[in-house]
Amino acid sequence: MSNYHIKHLEEYYQVYRKSVRNPEAFWEEIAEEHFVWRKRWDNVLNWDFKKPEIKWFEGAKLNITENCLDRHLPTRGEKTAIIFEPNNTDEEALHITYRQLHERVCRMANVLLDHGVKKGDRVCIYLPMIPELSVALLACARIGAIHSVVFAGFSSHALSTRINDSDCKIVLTSDGSFRGNKSIDLKGIVDKALEACPGVANVLVVKRTGSDITMVPGRDKWLQPLLDEAYADCVAEIMDAEDPLFILYTSGSTGTPKGMVHTTAGYMVYTAYTFKNVFQYKENDVYWCTADIGWITGHSYIVYGPLANGATTLMFEGVPSYPDFGRFWDVVQKHKVNQFYTAPTAIRALAKENLEYVEKYDLSSLKVLGSVGEPINEEAWHWYNNNVGKKNSPIVDTWWQTETGGIMITPIPYVTPTTPTYATLPFIGIQPALMDENAKEIKGNQVEGRLCVKFPWPSIARTIWGNHDRYRDTYFSAYENMYFTGDGALRDAVGYYRITGRVDDVIIVSGHNLGTAPIEDAINEHPAVAESAIVGFPHDVKGNALYGYVILKETGESRDRDNLRKEINQQITEHVGPIAKLDKIQFVSGLPKTRSGKIMRRILRKIASNDTSNLGDTSTLLNPEVVQEIMENSL
Ligand code: PRX
Repeated sequence: MSNYHIKHLEEYYQVYRKSVRNPEAFWEEIAEEHFVWRKRWDNVLNWDFKKPEIKWFEGAKLNITENCLDRHLPTRGEKTAIIFEPNNTDEEALHITYRQLHERVCRMANVLLDHGVKKGDRVCIYLPMIPELSVALLACARIGAIHSVVFAGFSSHALSTRINDSDCKIVLTSDGSFRGNKSIDLKGIVDKALEACPGVANVLVVKRTGSDITMVPGRDKWLQPLLDEAYADCVAEIMDAEDPLFILYTSGSTGTPKGMVHTTAGYMVYTAYTFKNVFQYKENDVYWCTADIGWITGHSYIVYGPLANGATTLMFEGVPSYPDFGRFWDVVQKHKVNQFYTAPTAIRALAKENLEYVEKYDLSSLKVLGSVGEPINEEAWHWYNNNVGKKNSPIVDTWWQTETGGIMITPIPYVTPTTPTYATLPFIGIQPALMDENAKEIKGNQVEGRLCVKFPWPSIARTIWGNHDRYRDTYFSAYENMYFTGDGALRDAVGYYRITGRVDDVIIVSGHNLGTAPIEDAINEHPAVAESAIVGFPHDVKGNALYGYVILKETGESRDRDNLRKEINQQITEHVGPIAKLDKIQFVSGLPKTRSGKIMRRILRKIASNDTSNLGDTSTLLNPEVVQEIMENSL
């Protein structure tokens, strides 16, 4: 068990040094001791950030579900793998044991096989947070199919773009989903999406809400009867270490969403190892991550990382405000949750409500609190620490990305002393670097720059589906021999990192990564709109909210502005999803542009944030007069 479970700070430094001095030897030891392989690797690491090409454990053969399920059966067969806490409090929670989960995964895998899904095929999963979602991921992995989960809050347009980009032939969905006191017509969204996806042959539907839906004959089938008939065991497909495990889309600063491709062995090793250490998970602990499996946090730290450790992982279908603002704490008390992992936006929303919602519940089971997705501000950190952790549970502010697959910069609880708003130290094996404007590395402490990583770690995404050039351009071209994260960071006097936010045009709203381009495209499709630009501005719950600057066509000038605002947000809801709606929309006669025609978002960001005392250099603007007008009418 050497090095697998770090228990004090000196040990962290020792293991860290070892992991960067000889990464191959370090990861080889972890891989050897803690996982089951069908065949050992020939080579631990092969990498070249120029091409870029990264291969971990080349030559090894395995199936990740044998690591997440089969190997636990002799010792943990009757242990709960998944606790399912439904949206509605009158519905009972489910406890699914490892043995039951294994059976459910095998049945679903057989149903997929029966529908012609083969190794390497892509399967689109558009499901709410119900057990079938976890089962679907694992069922794909069982047979070597590549899952592409699309968050079930995305619109039909966003869904069809993703289905077509990775050429999925089959979609798993449900009739609907429960979210608080609402139910959402997921199947209707899928039907609309599929009008633009001629390649989809089958839709398998989970019955969840019992709502009235249309089933297209020949294409759509209810899943449950197929599962009931399917054989309860399924031989695991033997995969190569570098075979793709899944595609997960993330926003870019420009263009279409990027289908990040994660492969099998490295992803498994890194998510399992980080899970064990970052949450100090011990056998019989109950671990709860509130993310949706539609995001990377759910993939790595609801499904794969916990299950690879034989942990009990809780899936919550609902929302923090239903039936009231005490729901999270009610669930913690009810299931005696030991590790709780959530997003700053949820903490800020709950901190606005009456403290009684927290104080009412017994939270003494909690040992570790986690935060992810965006910077956690000091106020939210203290509220979390005082009222949830009772100053007794360390907070792990974990910085990472869809692209990194696993947690990169984080305290280790009970090991690393924490400082509010600091993600603190690089995790084992991670070699961060801060870069200046001249693409030179900034050494030493008390410095600030652009955050890069110098050396590959096992779970780095290997490519963008169908577009390796974009992968290189986005992540490996800004700085030579470095992975560029898109974030800014500072390193303080003791070497702790604090993430300062995105340095590109990605905006993080309520922890969701939104690119400006698809939102602007959606707005521009409105018949009255000529052009638009989106920026983020600070918001006390969402972290950032969206501010849109819109130029109308002449034909739109006579239209009622409030109606236009509603229509524009409707347009965004249809094209991207409700999470991308604008909080403020200002109609303008022009947008500040450079001589080369690029919108100067820096100026728009400052105006939207009410920070106009120093707009910086505007000398390169083609149309400086428009800035005054925008400032005068700012909302
Ligand atoms: O800007 C950083 C922010 O979220 C971005 C990654 O978003 P996504 O790929 O959706 O993954 C989110 C969940 C891993 C990062 O580039 N971010 C994530 N965690 C933190 C953070 N910013 C500050 N502190 C964090 N702990």
